[in-house]
Amino acid sequence: MEISVIGAGYVGLTTAACLSEIGHHVFCADCDLEKLDSLRVGRLPFFEPHLDDLVKRGVASGRLEFTVPSDAIKKTEAIFICVGTPPLENGEADLSSIESVARMILSSAHGYRLVIEKSTVPVQTAKRLWKHLSIYNMNALTFDVVSNPEFLREGSAVEDFFHPDRVVIGAESLRAIALMKEIYRPVLQSRSTCPVHSECPAVPEPKLILTDTNSAELVKHASNSFLAMKISFINLIADACEAAGADIEKVAEGIGSDKRIGRAFLNPGIGFGGFCFPKDLQAFVRIGEKLGCDFSLLKEVEKINVRRAEQFVAKIKKELWVLRGKTLAVWGLAFKPNTDDVRFAPALSIIRRLLAEGTTIRAYDPEAMQKAEIDLPQITYCQSPYQAAEGADAILVLTEWNEFRNPNWKQLGELVARKLIIDGRNLFSADEVSPNGFQYIGVGRAVQAIRTAQEFKGIAAAGVLDVSAVSQPAPAQSHAVRTSV
Ligand code: UDX
Repeated sequence: MEISVIGAGYVGLTTAACLSEIGHHVFCADCDLEKLDSLRVGRLPFFEPHLDDLVKRGVASGRLEFTVPSDAIKKTEAIFICVGTPPLENGEADLSSIESVARMILSSAHGYRLVIEKSTVPVQTAKRLWKHLSIYNMNALTFDVVSNPEFLREGSAVEDFFHPDRVVIGAESLRAIALMKEIYRPVLQSRSTCPVHSECPAVPEPKLILTDTNSAELVKHASNSFLAMKISFINLIADACEAAGADIEKVAEGIGSDKRIGRAFLNPGIGFGGFCFPKDLQAFVRIGEKLGCDFSLLKEVEKINVRRAEQFVAKIKKELWVLRGKTLAVWGLAFKPNTDDVRFAPALSIIRRLLAEGTTIRAYDPEAMQKAEIDLPQITYCQSPYQAAEGADAILVLTEWNEFRNPNWKQLGELVARKLIIDGRNLFSADEVSPNGFQYIGVGRAVQAIRTAQEFKGIAAAGVLDVSAVSQPAPAQSHAVRTSV
């Protein structure tokens, strides 16, 4: 099928490249001419595993072309709207780009058009779009408006396209439903060759959910808000674990083993970030207000999330006492692994707070340093986690990149000023770290208690503790140990 995709951002470019991979002829359009030129030569504006290969393959095969919106809209019957809907001052989604695509369709298209809303939009937007197209329709255009929300995650966007849990189609006509089924047929029947796995995992075929446009639009906001709520919930429980002397990883396993709950998205940490959860949550709260629904539950989810950065800095302060003049190594800047995206990244808000306390930050991230430097030019960007650790009073783990999982502890121990890991993502555990002479502080885990004299001696020998200040190994929860500065 001939398809155009308007907007070459995360959602648009991934959708366009993947649709061309499953055999459609796709015109990916954007108003940014420079971006179009870069894309034509396979240069992507962001890092996303597998996507650059897909774009190159699509362009080489002629199935993926880059052009301006009006040109694409003229050429194809099906039009995916994948433009940005960033938050306005009041948190509502800015729909002006959606409206301008509608105006372009009205001025450039003739005959029939299937207008497919893929951007994240408030409920009832498809109805508003349909009304707008009807009112300003001067070219006797016939059209259908469909809602087809996107659920791809950054860092695994291509995999999520080929192995979605569900494809949601909100449509009001049989013609529109038939066309949408044809577009997604290879994915729905898992007949497409997935560019991610040499052998695809045995996952059930994606579910096709056919509904009306309002319901489809609500699925998106409600899904993201629910996932964000799950994260804030486990972070709340992590606080209780720290206070009560329990282990959040075990608690999460206990909770998540209940099929009604599921273990996914119960990873505690420094909070959720990225360009979706924070803004979709805010937008959904506003939608709730407009609909006269009390969404205070979601406001709490937001509050819990915002507090994570504050709490993490307090934890560092509690351990390092005076922060001014301290050097901190930061491992990870991206809002999550496998992306270079730092938008609303918890790491950046934590670093800003630590800078305000007068600390020196030495940071390393495998992909996101260039983008982070735009926001935070005043910190030191290092070429490796080891370089970042040089002279550090603590190593802060802020993004759980695989690259950090198995450090050379001996080498690390020789570089740092103090052998202390404060882990904001529970990438490690005390059992992994303390045998290497490092003190470990995770999320939702009792502060590393000195359980045995042996251990105490081990850490003392490693020069972490001032033994003269300590009589007996501290009981599990207390933090009676004083560090030698
Ligand atoms: C999210 C949704 O998952 C996706 O379906 C939607 O289409 C877009 O928004 P994304 O923002 O790419 O995707 O990232 P996701 O993997 O959901 O992570 C979001 C944030 O939550 C990250 O900061 C991540 O670190 C954090 N997170 C995730 C946790 O803190 N704990 C978890 O258990 C899971």
